[in-house]
Amino acid sequence: MKLPLVLVSDVDGTLLGDAAALEGFCRWYVEQQARIRLVYASGRFYESIVESIRTTGLPPPDAIIGGVGTEIRDFPSGRSVQGWQEQFSHFRAEVVRSCLARYDALQPQPEHLQSAYKVSYYAIDATDAFLAALHADLEQAGCPAQIVYSSRRDLDVLPRGVDKGAAAQFLIGQWGVDPRRVMVSGDSGNDASMFGRGFRGIVVGNAHDDLKALGGDGVFIARQPYAAGVLEGLQYWLSDGKP
Ligand code: GLC
Ligand code: MG
Repeated sequence: MKLPLVLVSDVDGTLLGDAAALEGFCRWYVEQQARIRLVYASGRFYESIVESIRTTGLPPPDAIIGGVGTEIRDFPSGRSVQGWQEQFSHFRAEVVRSCLARYDALQPQPEHLQSAYKVSYYAIDATDAFLAALHADLEQAGCPAQIVYSSRRDLDVLPRGVDKGAAAQFLIGQWGVDPRRVMVSGDSGNDASMFGRGFRGIVVGNAHDDLKALGGDGVFIARQPYAAGVLEGLQYWLSDGKP
């Protein structure tokens, strides 16, 4: 039997964004389903992605990485993958909130986008120096964290070492799949961590500059946008002699 392949894909702005392109992706996926596992990796939480599966043409995946990597759950059972959140159960969201409360430039995102392991803000056009200052403050407050900044607007504070890429790596390790058999696709900053881990990267044509700036051997920049770009990348990586 052929070795399994895995596609770990972002949802918003990557698979979702063009319904006709998503249909094309689905046709490909249905044909390949026996040899490929599909994982969604989103900044949104599990329930919200399940709702999108119900209401859009997104095909049912094998697992969902939600909350920018802070949760990994099987689909459709919804069971948490053991051993992931246990690693960062010491994270204290309330310490992050009180430490960062003095920054006027940070506007907390709505409550339903927050969790015990994800403290999210809107921060328009934040500079690297500003992000570094937040980082240093959190460190001083005894709350070492990971800051993920996307689309020049979304700022997520997560436990150190946690992001979509780390979650994908954990899941792939659990499944015992060779990283070279894993393709990842995305369109914005919170996807950057999935690239450069030995996975085969696909940046869709409509991606934000923060992701398009990625380069290197393992990154394919598609010409086409949304799901058509994902498909273009898959065809590139699966063409003869690649994985
Ligand atoms: C999604 C989440 C939001 C997060 C953003 C970037 O939009 O809902 O909370 O900030 O992704 O990771
Ligand atoms: Mg996206």
